[in-house]
Amino acid sequence: MLYIWGMLQDQITQYTEEINAFSTNNAAELEQFRIRFLGTKGIIKDIFDEFKAVSPEEKRTLGKVLNQFKQLAEAKYQTLNETISASQDTAESNQLDLTLPGEGFELGTRHPLAIVRREIIEIFNKLGFSVAEGPEIEDDWHNFSALNFPEEHPARDMQDTFFIKKGGEKGDIALRTHTSSVQVRMMEAGQPPFRALMPGRVYRNEAISARAHCFFHQVEGLYVDEKVSFADLKQTLFYFVQELYGEGTKVRFRPSYFPFTEPSAEMDISCSICKGAGCQMCKGSGWVEILGCGMVDPNVLENCGIDSKKYSGFAFGMGIERIANLKFEIKDLRLFSENDVRFLKQYQSATI
Ligand code: DAH
Repeated sequence: MLYIWGMLQDQITQYTEEINAFSTNNAAELEQFRIRFLGTKGIIKDIFDEFKAVSPEEKRTLGKVLNQFKQLAEAKYQTLNETISASQDTAESNQLDLTLPGEGFELGTRHPLAIVRREIIEIFNKLGFSVAEGPEIEDDWHNFSALNFPEEHPARDMQDTFFIKKGGEKGDIALRTHTSSVQVRMMEAGQPPFRALMPGRVYRNEAISARAHCFFHQVEGLYVDEKVSFADLKQTLFYFVQELYGEGTKVRFRPSYFPFTEPSAEMDISCSICKGAGCQMCKGSGWVEILGCGMVDPNVLENCGIDSKKYSGFAFGMGIERIANLKFEIKDLRLFSENDVRFLKQYQSATI
């Protein structure tokens, strides 16, 4: 026992001197010190292990010596550690150069659909059209019945419509499938003249692909007054197209069918990309369809409380994505909703 006791005492004296003499302002050196003395495999741990073999009587005196030794090492470590971190802090704050220029905010860009919507609205503003909006969750009346859709019309089918509730108090509740529902709300709420654009998001139960999406955006147009004719419709849309795609853009109307207009038409423009020569976008025909339109069916006017003998009107509806496709030559619809900034920032609005 005495032998161990003597050895330990010698070691402790030697290490105490070493600790007292130790000083550094280098964090790595201090860490070496900590590992050597205070680490889990360090000197103090070793000495405490040896201490287990000392006789119980000696433990009391020796225990005290050991504890003092341990405290000495810990205190040394703590003091040096504080000094080093304090000097690091000042070094860092000395490096802060307040005269350096700041990091500037990165400005976002408008979404291509927002750019196109805005452009469409601005053109029609010049013709006196105001802007109106309606709810995206609609009842059967506003989305279908008031618009003269027959009871069994396929557009009411599950395949097209996202129903929220079947057969409620106001009939089925669904996500609107087109912005024509806003026409109904507008006409129900007042009396002609109406001259408005109705932009908004619409939903259809379609598998998502490059050419179809379960939601997209439309702009609806409505003009109702006394003596509104098909000639007004043609001239209005002709003006719109010249403004949007440039003078010289040709238009043609093809007879079509919509439950809410009579007569109905689809309007094509000469392909804005190949100028009518034929390309991939117009599938070689030189023409691209951009909207549906027609004279508001008298039934629709009456459904909304408007005297169809006194008033007539025209309406049209277009997909904003379609217009943007033609303007920016974007071929995949999915890009519009992926929020990839590499895509989005290519479309700068001239009118921010
Ligand atoms: N609502 C039609 C659609 O979603 C578009 C449309 C066609 C709107 C003719 C109209 C119109 O106002 O007159 O396909």
